[in-house]
Amino acid sequence: MTEPTPLDVDRIRKDFPILSRTVRGGRPLVYLDSGATSQKPVQVLDAERHFYEHINAAVHRGAHQLAEEATDAYESARHTISAFVGGQPEDLVFTKNATESLNLVTYSFLNATLKAARGLELPEGGEHFVLEPGDEIVITEIEHHANLVPWQELCSKTGATLRWIPLTDDGRLNLSTLDTLINERTKCVSIVHQSNILGTINDVVLIGEHAARVKSLFVVDACQSIPHMPVDVGTLGADLVAWSGHKMLGPTGIGCLWGRSEVLAAMPPFISGGSMIRKVTMEGTTFADPPQRFEAGVPMTAQAVGLAAAADYLTDLGMANVAAHEHALTGYALDGLESIPGVRIIGPRNNVERGGAISFVVDGIHAHDVGQVLDDRGVAVRVGHHCAAPVCQRYGVTATVRASFGVYNGFDDVDSLVAAVKDAKQFFGVTD
Ligand code: ALA
Repeated sequence: MTEPTPLDVDRIRKDFPILSRTVRGGRPLVYLDSGATSQKPVQVLDAERHFYEHINAAVHRGAHQLAEEATDAYESARHTISAFVGGQPEDLVFTKNATESLNLVTYSFLNATLKAARGLELPEGGEHFVLEPGDEIVITEIEHHANLVPWQELCSKTGATLRWIPLTDDGRLNLSTLDTLINERTKCVSIVHQSNILGTINDVVLIGEHAARVKSLFVVDACQSIPHMPVDVGTLGADLVAWSGHKMLGPTGIGCLWGRSEVLAAMPPFISGGSMIRKVTMEGTTFADPPQRFEAGVPMTAQAVGLAAAADYLTDLGMANVAAHEHALTGYALDGLESIPGVRIIGPRNNVERGGAISFVVDGIHAHDVGQVLDDRGVAVRVGHHCAAPVCQRYGVTATVRASFGVYNGFDDVDSLVAAVKDAKQFFGVTD
C-alpha cells in the first residue's frame, strides 16, 4: 500500500517531454538515473530557447542592447539561484559543473601555496590556503571521485596528507574518531552531503562544528542534496558549497560554488583570462573581486538562465514536498527490493537520513547484467562503481546497480524496477 505524497507526479510528468518517449522497441521509459543527471522540464528548455532566440550576446562586454539584456539575464539568474539556497548573489560563482567547482577550491590551495613559496602577494586572508608538508586535508571514504581525486592531486603536489572518515558496515560515516581526525593540523575538511552511491545523508553540521573548532576550512559537496531537499547554505556551517545544475533539472554545462564572502575573497583565481581581471599590463595583472575573479571567459549564459528556471520550478513544487515525496519512494523501493531473495542493499537499509539513491547487488548476477535486463524492460539505472570506487572496495563488490529518483518518479516506477529485477533473476536462472 502506498500513501499519497505531496507531489502530483502525473501532472509533473507532463512537463518532461522526454518521459513520454519509448525505448527498446516501444517500452515506456522508466527513468531511475536522476543521480547521474536529471531530466529537464519544458520550463527550462523554453528559458534556454528564449534566451538564444531573443537575447543572445556575450555578457559583461559590448555596448549594445543585447549585451545589456544578456548581462541582466545572467545576473538575474545568479540572484534566483543564490536565493534558492539561501545565499547572496555576490557569493555565488558559476562554473562548468560541480567537479570544476571542487577543482576551483583545490587549485586555490595549490596556487596560494605556489605563490607563497615565491613570496608573491596573496589576496587578504589567502594564507589560509597555503599548505605545507604535515598539513592535513580530511575527506570521507564515501566521496565521489570529484571530491577525492582533486584532493589527492593537491596533496601529492604540496606534501599535505589526505585523511578520511571511514564508513561503517551499514553505509554510514563512522564519526567515533572525529576528535582526533580533525585536529590542529587540519587545513580543510571536505565532505559530501548526500552520497551519490549509497544515498547516505551525512551530518554536515556536526562535522562542520569540528572543522570550525580547529579553524579549518569546511567544504560541502551538495550535488545530491540540493536537488532533493531544502538546503540553506547559511545553516550548513560550510565555507564553500559545490553543486551542479544538471542534477537539479537544469542544463548541463553549469555548476555552482557558493562561498562565504571573506573566504571567496581570500582565494586566488583558478582559471585566468578575460573578465576576471581588474587591471592588465604587459608586466602583470590584478584580479577582480569574486565572483568575477573565478569566471574567466564568456560564461555559460543560456545555461545559467535555464538553471534559474529549474530553481523556480523546484521552488514552485516546494523542496520540503520534493524531499517528502522522494523519502516515500525510497522507503517503498527499499521494501520492494529487499523482498526479493538474493538482493542485497549496499548502504543504509533503514529509511532514515538517507536519500533516494539506492545501490544494490543481486547474488549470482553481475550488476552490468542486471542493468542490461532492466534496460531491455525500459528501466534506466546506472551500474558500475558510480565514480565512488573506494566505496565498492569497502563493501567487497566490483559494481552495484543504482536506482535514483527525481520529482517525476512515482510508485509505479518502483514497481517496474522490482518486477524487472525479478525478471533478471529468472532470465539468468538464479533460483531462490
Ligand atoms: N555523479 C553522477 C552519478 O553519481 C554522474 O551518477
